[in-house]
Amino acid sequence: MRTVDWHEGGVRLIDQRLLPNRLERPVFHDYAAVAQAITEMVVRGAPAIGATAAFGLALAGFQSQATDRLALLRDLEAAAALLRSARPTAVNLSWALNRLMRVAASEALETPDGVRQALLAEAQRLADEDVALNRRMGYNGAALVKDGDTILHHCNTGALATVDFGTALGVVFAVHEQGKRVHVLVDETRPRLQGARLTAWELAQKGISYELIADNAAGFFLQRGEVDLCLVGADRVAANGDVANKIGTYPLAVVAHENSVPFYCVAPTSTVDLALAEGALIPIEQRDPGEVLGLQFAGENVAPAGARARNPAFDVTPHRYLTAIVTENGVVRPPFLESLASVVRGAR
Ligand code: MRU
Repeated sequence: MRTVDWHEGGVRLIDQRLLPNRLERPVFHDYAAVAQAITEMVVRGAPAIGATAAFGLALAGFQSQATDRLALLRDLEAAAALLRSARPTAVNLSWALNRLMRVAASEALETPDGVRQALLAEAQRLADEDVALNRRMGYNGAALVKDGDTILHHCNTGALATVDFGTALGVVFAVHEQGKRVHVLVDETRPRLQGARLTAWELAQKGISYELIADNAAGFFLQRGEVDLCLVGADRVAANGDVANKIGTYPLAVVAHENSVPFYCVAPTSTVDLALAEGALIPIEQRDPGEVLGLQFAGENVAPAGARARNPAFDVTPHRYLTAIVTENGVVRPPFLESLASVVRGAR
């Protein structure tokens, strides 16, 4: 089952807010609702929101009443702007939209219907490619993992965060397919609990050994030598190898480094933004403080009435804390400025 697909003239998603308790697959017939679904994290994970935006733009093409090509292009520009603004950090969103807009602008497509069909075909191609390259990336990363290893993982980077198979968790799935036995320590990932809800669900479905840990327990296990390697994904990788990923990744990388535990980022080349020199330039999404304040204990809110909160959704891990970055085109090591550029240019 894919996280996102084209179904009966609309964009079908898995509503990830309801997992693991309920599996629902709403179909969206309005591109503005697709943008809202990205913002509200019905769908989340960098490659998954890229593919969703691509299908959303194809949907916008079919929604447009335009009868000539230029009018359709104007409608598509407006739809792309809305979809692009749905979440700021994952570069896959604008990467996917730029790719589709290039197709839409092709002079070879003479009629509006030709553009509409070409957009849907491109979105489908992008989604199919995502699955294929994730498998390749997973097997590239699997070479770094030994039988019996314990892996520390943050957030959710599995099939749900992509069209299928996953990035960092895809490495775990590839390792499992190879018959190596591994154990995964799963960070809960406050405040939206992608680890506790989604990663735990995916690992359980595949019968892979795991234990949930509170985010603030990670240092304990790293210090005691109980972790062989850390695997995380990325929402955007700057040209120098700095990585924006789910909030809490940075402290994990620092403590892994302090304890000489290898720290790997697993991300497709579509997540690499060579236009940004360093991580400090990556836009960081600030989400509703209510996501932090909504924590309940014994049926009551934990925070006192009137408490204020801050809720950055991502942090930036400086490249010096990364052992390597695993991509679909190979495993790149420092100095990332050269190695990343060559692996990205190779992909394009
Ligand atoms: O806020 P989310 O759940 O969209 O954040 C997801 C992550 O941070 C993932 O680690 C990242 O998108 C890479 S997953 C393929």
